[in-house]
Amino acid sequence: MSMNNIPQSTTLSNTTAGTSCFDANHIDVTTIEDLEQVGSDKWTRYPGCIGAFIAEMDYGLAPCVAEAIEEATERGALGYIPDPWKKEVARSCAAWQRRYGWEVDPTCIRPVPDVLEAFEVFLREIVRAGNSIVVPTPAYMPFLSVPRLYGVEVLEIPMLCAGAGESSGRNDEWLFDFDAIEQAFANGCHAFVLCNPHNPIGKVLTREEMLRLSDLAAKYDVRIFSDEIHAPFVYQGHTHVPFASINRQTAMQAFTSTSASKSFNIPGTKCAQVILTNPDDLELWMRNAEWSEHQTATIGAIATTAAYDGGAAWFEGVMAYIERNIALVNEQMRTRFAKVRYVEPQGTYIAWLDFSPLGIGDPANYFFKKANVALTDGRECGEVGRGCVRMNFAMPYPLLEECFDRMAAALEADGLL
Ligand SMILES: Cc1ncc(COP(=O)(O)O)c(C=O)c1O
Repeated sequence: MSMNNIPQSTTLSNTTAGTSCFDANHIDVTTIEDLEQVGSDKWTRYPGCIGAFIAEMDYGLAPCVAEAIEEATERGALGYIPDPWKKEVARSCAAWQRRYGWEVDPTCIRPVPDVLEAFEVFLREIVRAGNSIVVPTPAYMPFLSVPRLYGVEVLEIPMLCAGAGESSGRNDEWLFDFDAIEQAFANGCHAFVLCNPHNPIGKVLTREEMLRLSDLAAKYDVRIFSDEIHAPFVYQGHTHVPFASINRQTAMQAFTSTSASKSFNIPGTKCAQVILTNPDDLELWMRNAEWSEHQTATIGAIATTAAYDGGAAWFEGVMAYIERNIALVNEQMRTRFAKVRYVEPQGTYIAWLDFSPLGIGDPANYFFKKANVALTDGRECGEVGRGCVRMNFAMPYPLLEECFDRMAAALEADGLL
């Protein structure tokens, strides 16, 4: 089957590429009731609460994605994923990587239902039961829980916070603890989770930091799972550098996974990608992980291709909106919440808030009960997360204001602000 079998209406030429179609005014007037009506997990799991716990955005769909899905449903194109769509995903994902200056060969890009499935294949096929993996903490929660399902031990290594000590920490920066990482490698650990940009601390790694990690990995024969799902969410002054793109050494160490699912809010359509720049991994994948490819959704491949090909302008609208939101988070943390320990994120739409200076041991439960705000309990992100919460701020701006008002009111009522 050739590319000609893919209907023209779902390729770039017929999409809304070039016009943003992101309507910030419409987002601004979106209410909690509207969001509950949409029916997402974020807005239905805890009725009456502001949903700030799960990594989804409240900004609807890029028109090019909505059109592609509608057109595919009309055609009834909902069968198992065919090879031409796998190739389209690879082609469009490779084209998207050029945003980061990376010319990657589409033949090493394979579809997978989601990034976590890619992580599971990495654990099962590369790390293997009986071994261990370094996870810098705080971490995206499944990086701590999933390895255990595969008999892999997790070594939590807390991130360092340079400049820590002052209560506000506004100008602090998160850094890897390279000494502890080297110690773990020297003790026989051969795998590392690199989450860049980092959920939940919003760190965007520099090329130098990644090179240092890569050199350590080379010394101890360590493989790197590089999760780049948040790659497009990088604030001014920072740059996303795909780990595998740096040099031949990083390309051989990396097992990269990415997806359009965060940037276009389509995680339920189940189509992520692995980028296998180590030829042995590609061979291994085709031998032992093709089953994962088969589970990838055709509708997700269609949505993903439309997003990568035609969604850049819409995404710019998203990013402008999120930059306004992060400015509000920064301002709130500087003023009303000045006692909360907080480091400004460099990317993602997630903030890590440490309420321990206020003496609140379980802030997620506190704000759930007293403010009707649903946040992620920091302890799910590792032992360092006691007293902390993970907050998703990719919501309508007025709801974010309300979220902070609710939280501040609860703290004020308890004399904690
Ligand atoms: C860093 C990171 N990786 C992976 C995922 C999950 O992605 P997927 O749904 O593709 O498994 C998320 C979702 O929040 C995430 O933040």
